[in-house]
Amino acid sequence: MSEKGFRAKFKDSDVAVTFRDLILLPGWTEVEPNQVQLSTQVSLKHSINIPLVSSPMDTVTESEMAIGLARLGGLGVIHRNCTAEEEFEMAKKVKRAESLVIKEVITISPDSTVKYATELMQKHNISGLPVVQGEHLVGILTGRDVRFADSNLLTSDVMTKKVITAPAETNIEGAKEILHKHRVEKLPLIDKEGRLKGLMTIKDILQRGRFPNAARDENGQLLCGAAVSPFDLRRAKKLSEVADILVIDVAHFHNANVFSSMKKMLEEVDTDVVVGSIGTYQAAEDILTKLDGVAGFRVGIGSGSICTTMEATKAGSPTVFATAQVADALRTYGSKLPIIADGGIRGPGDAAIALSLGASAVMMGNIFARSKEAPGTLITIGGRYYKQYRGMGSPSAMAKRFSSDRYAQPSKGLPEGVEGWVPYKGELSVVVQEMVAGLQASMGYAGARTIPELWEKSKLAGITNSGAEEARPHDVLLPSESPERV
Ligand code: XMP
Repeated sequence: MSEKGFRAKFKDSDVAVTFRDLILLPGWTEVEPNQVQLSTQVSLKHSINIPLVSSPMDTVTESEMAIGLARLGGLGVIHRNCTAEEEFEMAKKVKRAESLVIKEVITISPDSTVKYATELMQKHNISGLPVVQGEHLVGILTGRDVRFADSNLLTSDVMTKKVITAPAETNIEGAKEILHKHRVEKLPLIDKEGRLKGLMTIKDILQRGRFPNAARDENGQLLCGAAVSPFDLRRAKKLSEVADILVIDVAHFHNANVFSSMKKMLEEVDTDVVVGSIGTYQAAEDILTKLDGVAGFRVGIGSGSICTTMEATKAGSPTVFATAQVADALRTYGSKLPIIADGGIRGPGDAAIALSLGASAVMMGNIFARSKEAPGTLITIGGRYYKQYRGMGSPSAMAKRFSSDRYAQPSKGLPEGVEGWVPYKGELSVVVQEMVAGLQASMGYAGARTIPELWEKSKLAGITNSGAEEARPHDVLLPSESPERV
């Protein structure tokens, strides 16, 4: 005990404010909401087009959510409450969903049977196969070629031999022209010697047009994040072969064992690694000074809608407070690494507050769990639809074993999360559209055209409990409420 005694423990302490305690002050503005631009850095090497990231939770992010969110401009982080192989397959599905040029082309040899070709197309859910002898393209086989063919025939008997091809370096406009001119759907790319180098398809080109705001890598594939435990180097290495960003998934990163394990992981993995969760200036400072190779910060402990960490242990750092603490540390050290504010976000206003405090993006579980693309089961309660949503520290999630190391050792007997239901909202695009429109409006009020401008220009104020009450609709009977509430 220092000579200042117990009182010193909170004498200089900050108030750990939360989303409910703050409002964004309207500022001088020359910006209309539709002029607000939401693209942002999400890790050292990667940026996304809307600042929304889905939580790695087994009722939030599997392939469908990650594909859907990346198409809309955000980033999905695949959960790890499964084997490393299952997580790898989910991430692979995201990366395979679209690409400008398919590099790992699924091919067939001319002496394979039609039966085998049909099975191969079904297995990979594709409608055609380039036929190769060694590395050389000798034909193309499509669904139409095999539809009514005797299954014992050979591929060479039914394939199209005169294939429309293009040089390996063909760009999207060139490919469109050729595909249109010859009315074909697949364009094998070959080198001067006729070796197959890739494949472009009309389906991928159309998808690109349908989702112009998608978050993609340099090959035109959708960006994908994947969660890993700080202690699971094998999983991290495996996932780094396919995912663009690894997100460390542990409730308390500022921990001696985590730091020593992470030193090795950061040395051995090339992919961007976002670390967290952290909640204090000191934690950010220690990471910046003791760990090399970090690509971003996941910030906020205990604010999540399904969290019981703070209730059970009284330990935590609400997302608003945590973001301000970490942002200050980054500013002190001149670091430009992005902060992902994680937990407790109930809508675009909360997201705007987190961004104002220095976050580059927000991570949400509850909001995304409401959509069709989330893996949770859909149920009806009292004639309304709901989706299952559970904390990764809830008893049922931890019973699956893989997520139990997210929490401190004693937590295996102490749940740090709950399981429940959230109202069903339908398509992810509806949920995202509400968030985007709300964020643009908030930033318009703050006079900020971009997220970095919001960091500079926005001003926040505290609000009392009665103020927060006034900020909601009041003194009217709302259709969804019973008369007693008015
Ligand atoms: P929201 O508010 O969007 O928060 O539901 C999602 C975030 O909550 C964290 N998380 C947990 N935290 N116990 C916790 O203390 C849990 O069981 C739990 N499960 C998820 C996680 O950071 C997630 O992104």
